[in-house]
Amino acid sequence: MFDPSKVLLSQIIVDTLSSLGITADRERVYQSIEFCPQPELGQYAFKTFIVAKQAGMNPMEFGTKLCDALKQHNQISSVAQAGPYINLILFSGEIAPLLIDDGASGDVAVITPSVPHRYMIEHSQPNTHKEMHIGHTRNSVLGDTLCRLLKHNGYSVFAQNYHGDEGAHVAKCIWYIRTFNQSPAEGQDKGTWLGQMYVDSTAKIEGATPEEAEQYKAGISAVLKGIESREGPDYAYWKETRQWSLDMFHEVYDWLDVSFDSDCCESDVSEESISVVKEYLDKGVFIRSEGAVGADLSDKKLGFCMLLKSDGNGLYATKDIALALKRFREQNPDTCVYVVDNRQSHHFKQVFATLDKMGFPQANRCYHLAYEMVETKNGAMSSRKGNIVPILGLIDELEAQARGILEERYSADWSAEEIADVAKLISRSAVRYGMIKVDPESKIVFDMESWLTFEGNTGPYLQYVFARICSLQRKSSDDEINLSSEISWSALDKTSEQQLLAHLANFNEMVDVSCTKLKPNMFASYTYDLARKFNAFYAECPINSEPDASLRQARAALVRLTQIYLGTAMDLLAIPRIERM
Ligand code: ARG
Repeated sequence: MFDPSKVLLSQIIVDTLSSLGITADRERVYQSIEFCPQPELGQYAFKTFIVAKQAGMNPMEFGTKLCDALKQHNQISSVAQAGPYINLILFSGEIAPLLIDDGASGDVAVITPSVPHRYMIEHSQPNTHKEMHIGHTRNSVLGDTLCRLLKHNGYSVFAQNYHGDEGAHVAKCIWYIRTFNQSPAEGQDKGTWLGQMYVDSTAKIEGATPEEAEQYKAGISAVLKGIESREGPDYAYWKETRQWSLDMFHEVYDWLDVSFDSDCCESDVSEESISVVKEYLDKGVFIRSEGAVGADLSDKKLGFCMLLKSDGNGLYATKDIALALKRFREQNPDTCVYVVDNRQSHHFKQVFATLDKMGFPQANRCYHLAYEMVETKNGAMSSRKGNIVPILGLIDELEAQARGILEERYSADWSAEEIADVAKLISRSAVRYGMIKVDPESKIVFDMESWLTFEGNTGPYLQYVFARICSLQRKSSDDEINLSSEISWSALDKTSEQQLLAHLANFNEMVDVSCTKLKPNMFASYTYDLARKFNAFYAECPINSEPDASLRQARAALVRLTQIYLGTAMDLLAIPRIERM
């Protein structure tokens, strides 16, 4: 029960019921309170079904009886029956004080959870020696937003990255560079260049004659062996180039405002993964099948999870087993979330089932947060074909476009430097919000122009509303508002004021729901609605020009409260707060 206004209302209902001789469970009552779909009819709608059943009455009769009793209540400003529903409005003076404590520090306070919980969130995971493109940002934005929301919920969070830094793709890329004497141009970003080299290497291999193909295969396999031997020139070059990719990724993370507690690579676990398989083969948990070793998961209808090929080499799943064991050992999370696109669903089902078979109870607390792909307006992206824009280039394009928009609006008042700074913050918010507002299960079409606009469901729109709030405060001729002073909150009796207050009170509930369902998009739409409800209030109610001083003060206080809640919501979505726009 995270919404203090709904908690208050459920208490009022429970007490009223009790005065009628009916005992009701407060949690049940709380769960039966919704936002009234028609704001002019009420703030809240109480569904009488469940509680009526509990009281052994028919919902209509029960509703009438309860409605009459609630009319006597002095914390309720309006109550009306609508069939089995009761529509209610609480006096604004009842809701607002509940919000002040939470926002006393200028930010909405972090929740203290009733039961502590430790989350491990794995996200991002781009492969080194490959391009990073806009599609990759969906993963990090999802993972990082989830981390922020969980932390607000008071949980302990450990964010880990996991790069694919070995195997065939890496060998191909390095083989190509060394065989055909390629080198990056002066001043070119080396990580981006590596991605291009990988694309070129696949083109080279695909265009090979049969004799060349044989030759290339031998060359690539020699490079692979060289890297695996962990010594010699190929290994040294692998280490050097891998860092180029990691540096490029970190440049993107900085731009996106994404951070990790640890950066892990496949090569950190590959050695251990082989011995784990041998250990569990000896224990009789894994079996041999046609020369290979793996877990028989047919009882779970998941087939055979191959862990050692007949040549003795491990696979992607093998490393995932070792990675999970390392996490259970070192971090001991209560829940481990893997943010990975939905093409890997079967892989994770197999990995988790294998861990279960190995006797790790933590397997049941591993969760694959699968998300859909990102497409461009021209369709799907594929780094093998090289039909994608490398991420750093795209960031430049976004910022240039944002600068153009700002120059049109503000070139008379802002310096070029100011325009460039704000352009960066706007383009980040366009990407962060564009990627998070969509349900993980739905596709996203990346659309730079519409994501960058100040109107509609965009990150820049939220920034614009926040800046408008700051500007209202600057323009006020009254003293700065002190929320702990005497404020006549109950003067806020307009529908838009009541709606805004009820929405503010729902903040922590929405954080919690988004965490529990692993759907940060729900919090994004909460934030968008918050901005829209503020705009509705701003349109309906004069603020600085209101002649009645105590009403003016109450409205200014509501503006301040909105600033606190919207600002914290933006922090949780990593949308930079901009004070002037
Ligand atoms: N690097 C992998 C890829 O690009 C994703 C890694 C997902 N995480 C994992 N634990 N397997 O496909």
